[in-house]
Amino acid sequence: MNSKIHFNPSKGWMNDPNGLIKINDTYHIFFQHYPNDTVWGPMHWGHAVSKDLVSWEELPVAIYPDDELYIFSGSCMLDTHNVSGLGTHKAPALLAFYTSHSKTSGQQQQCIAYSTDYITFTKYSGNPVIPNTVLPDFRDPKVFSNPIRGGYSMVVAAGRYIFFYHSFNLLDWNKTGEFKFSDYGYSGIVECPDCFLLNNGLQQKWLLSASIVVPDDEPFKTVGDEITNITPHFTQYFTGTFDGDTFIVDSSYHNTKLLDYGTDNYATVTFANCNDKIIMGWGDNWKYINDTEDRVHKGKLTIARKLMLVSSGDDFYIAQEPMLPVTCAYTFKTTDRHIHLLSSTVKICITHEELHSIRFTNSCGNFFDIIFSEDSIWVDRSFSDNKSFSVEYASERYSKKRAKRRDLNCKETTIILDNGYFEIFTDNGISNFSMNTYPDEPFSDIIINGRASIEISNF
Ligand code: FRU
Repeated sequence: MNSKIHFNPSKGWMNDPNGLIKINDTYHIFFQHYPNDTVWGPMHWGHAVSKDLVSWEELPVAIYPDDELYIFSGSCMLDTHNVSGLGTHKAPALLAFYTSHSKTSGQQQQCIAYSTDYITFTKYSGNPVIPNTVLPDFRDPKVFSNPIRGGYSMVVAAGRYIFFYHSFNLLDWNKTGEFKFSDYGYSGIVECPDCFLLNNGLQQKWLLSASIVVPDDEPFKTVGDEITNITPHFTQYFTGTFDGDTFIVDSSYHNTKLLDYGTDNYATVTFANCNDKIIMGWGDNWKYINDTEDRVHKGKLTIARKLMLVSSGDDFYIAQEPMLPVTCAYTFKTTDRHIHLLSSTVKICITHEELHSIRFTNSCGNFFDIIFSEDSIWVDRSFSDNKSFSVEYASERYSKKRAKRRDLNCKETTIILDNGYFEIFTDNGISNFSMNTYPDEPFSDIIINGRASIEISNF
């Protein structure tokens, strides 16, 4: 089943979103791409543009690998002051920071490619800008403006650490700090880190996020509270401060915070050069995407989400709001408890007095549940499809996911369902779940247990 409102390349494989950036009124996304097959292969940077974050125009591949060096994940920065000298003031260069990954040795180093037409990219002659001969995992550079020291900073995933670098000209980088992720969060290999500022009008906080992969032979170890049914790939974040060199976690930090409590949102990063803080992630999971039904393309992005800083108790959280500005075909409101869906791509906004559960069903007997209890929200896809394609997907920990409730007064839940892909925003966007399902037929009915009014937009 194809996604209607989610980006996927026209053919081939995709994983992480890369180099998300807004230039004038256009959003650019790049992505880990292998155009020649629907499995991971020599990585390219694919490219697409959009004005509204929903309808995407795919452009030619932006950065190609060669026989030896693959183009791994990274970020973009628009060099508006031409500090790099790679563009001009009139035509600022777009710098793409990526990891070159050696096919033969696995060596990972940070490199640059640049463009002044924002379509064709040239690899910088001074690559690698951050060489590496010792670390087995050293990848996914994310560059951001440094308002404390001036110039730019970069976070890079370095095994179980995040390394910080600084530069004034975007070309020469000096190391300024290290953050050991497992001292504060789950231990595992860090991927796709990000560091950014969020402001709620009253307070501001720096956020440090990273995707974590816990190796198969390693038990899940964490500082802070354990997440029920955690699975090897997830994105965790911390609130704190950035002193210009490195990140310092808030002393009030004690709750483990994930950007998503579902199984299918990974490598999530923010857009650069944009007033709002907007994120997108990879809407699939390394553990079973290869076992899913074959088609001409594999992999998609989540819907874009706007981030907000919220406080609850003595702690701060990121709240997410889905950005779905396109006009839908038809919207209706109802207080019925049994609703027949008119499309397999819908946005459902539920305003609830009292909500116990929401069930999505179809005529084949598949069902998918969202269950609200006093202290938790559970999402359960145990009976949403035929699970024989993957042992991992069929297991209980991949099927039933839980988030602790953070905002008990929350009266709104938003669900986006696009051909089996659920994105669920609860507790005012603090606890969210993104989960793929593969039902025998599209979910066609919803059963609400509780008192609620519902608005359904059909796409
Ligand atoms: C995360 C990741 C990155 C890496 C890329 C390779 O999903 O493993 O760390 O750069 O995918 O495609």
